[in-house]
Amino acid sequence: MNQETLLDKTYETIKTYLENNLNDHAPVVQFKEPHELNKLINFKVNEQGVSEFEFLDMINQYLDYSVRTGNKQFLNQLYSGFNLPAFIGDVLTSLANTSMYTYEVAPVATMIENEMVKLMNSYTGYAEGDGIFVSGGSNANLVAMFSARNRALPESRFEGYDRNQKLTAFVNEQAHYSFETAANVLGIGARNVIKVKADNNGRLIPAELEKAIQSSLERGEKPFFVSATCATTLLGAYDPIDEMAEICERYGVWLHADGSFGGSVILSEKHRHLMKGIEKTDSFAWNPHKLMNIPLICSVLLVKKRGTLQRNITDINTDYIFHNIDEIEDLGKKSIQCGRRVDAVKLWFAWKYFGLEGYRKRIDNLMDMASYAEQLVCQHHRLELVAPRQSFTVCFRFKPETETDINAFNLKVRETIRKKGKTLVNYGYHNGQLAIRLVTANADLEAKNIDRFFTHFLETASQLEAKEVLVTINEN
Ligand SMILES: Cc1ncc(COP(=O)(O)O)c(C=O)c1O
Repeated sequence: MNQETLLDKTYETIKTYLENNLNDHAPVVQFKEPHELNKLINFKVNEQGVSEFEFLDMINQYLDYSVRTGNKQFLNQLYSGFNLPAFIGDVLTSLANTSMYTYEVAPVATMIENEMVKLMNSYTGYAEGDGIFVSGGSNANLVAMFSARNRALPESRFEGYDRNQKLTAFVNEQAHYSFETAANVLGIGARNVIKVKADNNGRLIPAELEKAIQSSLERGEKPFFVSATCATTLLGAYDPIDEMAEICERYGVWLHADGSFGGSVILSEKHRHLMKGIEKTDSFAWNPHKLMNIPLICSVLLVKKRGTLQRNITDINTDYIFHNIDEIEDLGKKSIQCGRRVDAVKLWFAWKYFGLEGYRKRIDNLMDMASYAEQLVCQHHRLELVAPRQSFTVCFRFKPETETDINAFNLKVRETIRKKGKTLVNYGYHNGQLAIRLVTANADLEAKNIDRFFTHFLETASQLEAKEVLVTINEN
């Protein structure tokens, strides 16, 4: 087999794989323990290369045992689904294989990234805004905190950070862990990320934020950064940006919005109110690789003020790369990366394909599906919500009839489901209760897919319950 035939065969394999995505009965995963995978796949690279036939086997093995995130029973993570135009954009990105630092090597991609940032800023309301594609929501949060630190202490860019001026950041107690990592990386220290109490719906309480800022000031610290989460990772809660913005303005603190998970709701006319006040923030992390179903990674940090990102970079003493010869700014001058993958092109392909209206509808469908799943939970006498639904996640649990440890039981149900592979759903803990978290992140979901999930879930739970009863009877 030559390379051309290998390419044809690979294309056929991809087509078969995609047909499978449409089959609601196909498993999400053929789960194998690590030692089993070790037996099935030869992971070692040998002295001699493999033949094209062996190479084809490798392709099939990789796809056979990987999780099929495009399958509609993949309800596990905050990203899912298969987006054909974006997939094509991603393939073309690898095909052209260029880097985002200069117009010279990425002319079309530079124009596209600029256009995407402009379009996204038309939703945030940052009239003089800017932005940059980054390597994930965590990194968007890092660059936001970095920009805030540089505004609060501009000299720290050159002299380093004086720990006597103890900087403090404030986030929802249920915010993503990336803020601690960011504070760690920036030398601010993870302990100086202060967790602010949330209400029963998981939304940060503004009065608690103000109290926390005041206490920090009384301790002689320097509050410099607040993040509103839109939406939180487990409960899908949206913090009250408007009220937080007032507080941040009063204390001269940078307000960031972490929309890594739920930021795409800004596209929906019906649900955009969840992010009311977004135009008052200083920066916004938006992950099209989650609710817009763009293949990973596709993340943007938007900033309210043009020039913010350029100021973060201290020495562009690089005449071997930035030549200032084109009538457009090289995007590398505002990124903390040098070589940077082209992530805007797949977004552009998808957005062009579906149009603004198409994406509005896709986001609305995600919310409708979450609402449908919530209804099913509320209507079923053996299911209950662990917390009221806020947006795209439904956190629930099974109530066994027999007296048992409910957390342990639900954990067993989820583990059994995971290993069966018919459907995949995740879990977390809320107020000590294990919550099965169903995420409606795939815009192509239909009610029948949600029905199928609950059929699998309830079947497994009932079987396990029957087994437990049997064990109890036998023990007695
Ligand atoms: C609220 C929130 N912020 C940040 C992140 C991190 O995003 P990424 O996984 O793209 O780094 C996540 C990821 O789930 C998230 O839910």
